[in-house]
Amino acid sequence: MSTKEKKEKILPYRLLDSGNLKKLEQVGPYRLVRPALNAFWGPTLDSSEWESADAVFTRDNSGGGKWDFRKRLPESWLVEYAGFTLKMKPTNFGHLGFFAEQYRNWERFRTGNYKNGLNLFGYSGIGSMAMAAGGAKVCHLDAARGMNEWGQENVQLNPHVPNVIRWITDDVKKFVNREVRRGSLYDLIALDPPSFGRGSSGQVWKIETDLPRLLECCRELRDPERPFNLVLSCHSPGFSLEVFSRMVRDIFGSSCRIEGEEMTIPESTGKVLPAGISCWCILD
Ligand SMILES: C[S@@+](CC[C@H](N)C(=O)[O-])C[C@H]1O[C@@H](n2cnc3c(N)ncnc32)[C@H](O)[C@@H]1O
Repeated sequence: MSTKEKKEKILPYRLLDSGNLKKLEQVGPYRLVRPALNAFWGPTLDSSEWESADAVFTRDNSGGGKWDFRKRLPESWLVEYAGFTLKMKPTNFGHLGFFAEQYRNWERFRTGNYKNGLNLFGYSGIGSMAMAAGGAKVCHLDAARGMNEWGQENVQLNPHVPNVIRWITDDVKKFVNREVRRGSLYDLIALDPPSFGRGSSGQVWKIETDLPRLLECCRELRDPERPFNLVLSCHSPGFSLEVFSRMVRDIFGSSCRIEGEEMTIPESTGKVLPAGISCWCILD
């Protein structure tokens, strides 16, 4: 391999360790420490591994936080993860532009033989890319224009992803109601709602009050001619797998098959870091 090729080699993302409410991640060439609010155990690796981090993000009481850069990091860089090349960028909220725990959902999107996928709260587009890579036509919805632009950059980095994604910047409730009126139909709908969010014109999203109506709209968007899959994932307190199962059955009927799991990120230590829940609702 030439020096140039070596330089251009894109390195993977790996979760190295977790503990003391933090996680240690190797994000391509950079080692980061970020909060992991359920890591109630002690770290597995030696403290020298943690001390070698290039940047540490700590939360403050306002819900935000700050990065302490111990080395000069580029504004953004690329990593390999779950079969995709992804743009990483440390944000003011301590995010990097992807949720590693979603990898099993992405694999199902890629291999499930779907025709029309809808990705709500689509963030940086990895779920949408997985749907497109699996052969579906995709509608990606997020309130933040910047996230949709990030998603389009991710697509550019992955030439194997067909150019079939429609990028919509809008409020989720407004958009989905419009889709119902238009008679749009999907056989795969993914939703990863935050606890609280803002639509593109400042509309308030609150998971406790808004999720039931959103799921009712999703029911209207079901393509009756095909098997239907809806996947609901979240990290919000109070939303357990049983809560999701009951809500989904209430809306989609008792014949819907539920496949729920706690999402996790595998660690290099051989252990896993739990990170939210994911609930598939399947109507054959
Ligand atoms: C991927 S979800 C949250 C992921 C993860 N479950 C969590 O709790 O952090 C966040 C995305 O939802 C989008 N979002 C928030 N409120 C929205 C709304 N009302 N309409 C559309 N998208 C919204 C945000 O722009 C963001 O990209």
